[in-house]
Amino acid sequence: MRYGHFDDARREYVITHPDTPLPWINYLGSEEYFGIISNTAGGYSFYRDARLRRLTRYRYNNAPLDVGGRYVYLRDDASGDFWSPSWQPTQRELEDYACRHGLGYSIISSRYQGISAETLYFVPGGETLEIWLVRVTNERAEPAKLSLFSSIEFCLWDAQDDATNFQRNYSVGEVEVEDGVIYHKTEYRERRDHFAFFACSEPLAGFDTQRDAFLGPYRSWDRPIAVERGASSNSIAHGWQPSGSHHVRLEIGPGETKEVIFLLGYAENPRDAKFDPPGSQTIDKRLVRPTIDRYLQPAVVAEAFEALRARWTDLLGICQAQTGNEHVDRMVNVWNPYQCMVTFNMSRSASLFESGIGRGMGFRDTSQDLLGFVHMIPSRARERLIDVASTQLPTGGAYHQYQPLTKRGNNDVGSRFNDDPAWLVLAVAAYLKETGDTSILDVAVPYDNRPGTERPLYEHLQRSIVYTLERRGPHGLPLIGRADWNDCLNLNCFSETPGESFQTTENRSGGVAESVFIAGLFVLAANDLAEIAALRGDGAEAARCISAAAEMRDVVAQHGWDGAWFRRAYDFYGRPVGSAENDEGQIFIEPQGMCIMAGIGLDDGRARVALDSVRQRLATPHGIVVLQPAFTRYHLHLGEISTYPGGYKENAGVFCHTNPWVMIAETRVGNGDGALDYYLRINPSAREDLSEIHRGEPYVYAQMIAGKDAATPGEAKNTWLTGTAAWNFTAISQWILGIRPEHAGLRIDPCVPAAWGDFTLTRRFRGATYRIAVRKHAGASGRVTRLRVDGRTVGGNLAPLPASPGADIEVEAFVEATP
Ligand code: BGC
Ligand code: NOJ
Repeated sequence: MRYGHFDDARREYVITHPDTPLPWINYLGSEEYFGIISNTAGGYSFYRDARLRRLTRYRYNNAPLDVGGRYVYLRDDASGDFWSPSWQPTQRELEDYACRHGLGYSIISSRYQGISAETLYFVPGGETLEIWLVRVTNERAEPAKLSLFSSIEFCLWDAQDDATNFQRNYSVGEVEVEDGVIYHKTEYRERRDHFAFFACSEPLAGFDTQRDAFLGPYRSWDRPIAVERGASSNSIAHGWQPSGSHHVRLEIGPGETKEVIFLLGYAENPRDAKFDPPGSQTIDKRLVRPTIDRYLQPAVVAEAFEALRARWTDLLGICQAQTGNEHVDRMVNVWNPYQCMVTFNMSRSASLFESGIGRGMGFRDTSQDLLGFVHMIPSRARERLIDVASTQLPTGGAYHQYQPLTKRGNNDVGSRFNDDPAWLVLAVAAYLKETGDTSILDVAVPYDNRPGTERPLYEHLQRSIVYTLERRGPHGLPLIGRADWNDCLNLNCFSETPGESFQTTENRSGGVAESVFIAGLFVLAANDLAEIAALRGDGAEAARCISAAAEMRDVVAQHGWDGAWFRRAYDFYGRPVGSAENDEGQIFIEPQGMCIMAGIGLDDGRARVALDSVRQRLATPHGIVVLQPAFTRYHLHLGEISTYPGGYKENAGVFCHTNPWVMIAETRVGNGDGALDYYLRINPSAREDLSEIHRGEPYVYAQMIAGKDAATPGEAKNTWLTGTAAWNFTAISQWILGIRPEHAGLRIDPCVPAAWGDFTLTRRFRGATYRIAVRKHAGASGRVTRLRVDGRTVGGNLAPLPASPGADIEVEAFVEATP
């Protein structure tokens, strides 16, 4: 069953049932101010860092799920009846409920007793505030007297402390209310220079800033006492739970519409100009007031919303496909790049599955997220690359995570995940291929953010490669360290203490656990660095990298092959993992995808054999699972992977991030049918009809879909924040549709199903617009061997770099009949 539908023309997903299997969310903001918003207006907001600068509260894992958010209430002042036009929290039966999740905005609308209400939520570009534009229309025959209430609950900034340190926090909350604006200023008296504001465009009938005054004792958000009785109490919070609510009275004639604007935002004052008058404890509002006044005007709001829509039209215009397959087109043209923007912004910090507290910006996650983002806003990608590289350690190793606010490596999560540094090379290579901006390689970047340690970014990449070379085990394969990409394959951990973190606990020393996966990744990274070195005229480095890659390839051929697939690893004792010798976990997906992407096994047929094994053993209708057979019990020497019940997460779930690696591998062996088949199995749009099984949003990828060993196969979890977004975008756009930025031009190398005919693509690249028509007879399964570029024939499949910026380049790409 479906709970809504795609509106492709408006680039929206329209949810028509409020009680979706799980809250289906969207993101507001894409620069500094962010929020998550569910289809019933649940969620929270923060400035830059979901842990350290949380504006509003949200209680995870609550019953019911998803209570707390950006609620408005309407009350019929004649009858006293009240409701939430977003369904939650009052859950009245609404007519024509719809939530339109768009790119950076959501619109929730409904009708109740002849009153329709629509709320548009978005963050205007360049601002640190969100707008709620509420439109109320009276569809009755007679005038309506209504009350409109807004409501939010403030968070005392540090979300972790806010959720735990009640002995202090119940005493520190402070607010001010001035000219109808509610200011939240907890800790502003001391070391914070920031505050939040909550403003309304209309004259107020009243307000509340103390949660209990608004809700009433022992009441929840479904029946606030202020709403029930139709009057606020003008409460001022002193400690306890500061909140914000405005009360506006509306008289609306038949057929008439009234608009009310609410603004919730974040502001900072200079440390030495915090108070007005100086010496008082009152917030100096002179800096923030003009912004508030501006956005309380409907025309300004309308213009900002149009600008947001136009911004996305422009961003999405960079890569557009018309293939005739609606699941491909809608994901490539709209939703997948949108999710890539979100993962770029959030890493793994804030979603309905990531509390915003636990995880900052992952080193490997951020590096991979860039692969799907770099074409959209290269300048932001550049800045992010420098930020990430600045947390690299002098050894070439990396902190596993850093905090977005401080940009410092997070010591609590530590380092020694031995795959981390290699991803940085892939990310920088992707940036260079997209932009040609080799100046980034000369940027002086510190190690561990320590002043005085700055070295060119190029050297950081070299140290990444050396890091792996210096850490090899008895087979010559890279040592795994704490873990590689699979955070849960903890071969040195041996944890026996309940609750201990597998990722951070002290590892047992003296082991020799090695990773075949890192070997494959290393080959990719070393080849990328070789190309980069060649660009710089550093022939010696290029040669070193090429021979290191070749040597590693040989090691994989010798010790990484199990007979019908690539092995996964060697454990602490030097025994194979992911081998027919094992009882459980005989075959893993990661090394099949990664080694073949790196070109290993292409020349000796092993790639095809490995992919056949994947198809036989790991592929399911819901995607390709991580491993088989699933681990049925805890294996001390394998770690967290064996803690999950079979079919979930890393223990044989469909960990979607890995699936595009196999899609790419299929294109490397020329199997376009196989690649697209896998692509569609996890494509959320293609799974829309399964919504009651899939349960997650049908417009974004999930990190995990339960595998065949699970009790709930096909059920998605951890939607939104996953490397799946970037990798699927890479797989479909660069390898299946085959439009691949390279240092020397734009590679046009589609590998699509034989049955496909012609299709077209548009790609902006290096300042030019390439309009690409792929000429293909249905039934042909060969590759492009010849191009016509602006009417001139070019042998091969590399469209040259534009001769001049701003050019429009017409490309015809001819697919051979047979391979
Ligand atoms: C999850 C992994 C994740 C890790 C991060 C584990 O519990 O299964 O997917 O990468 O936590 O710390
Ligand atoms: C999620 C983590 O964010 C990512 O870094 C890791 O590679 C996967 N889980 C697999 O464990």
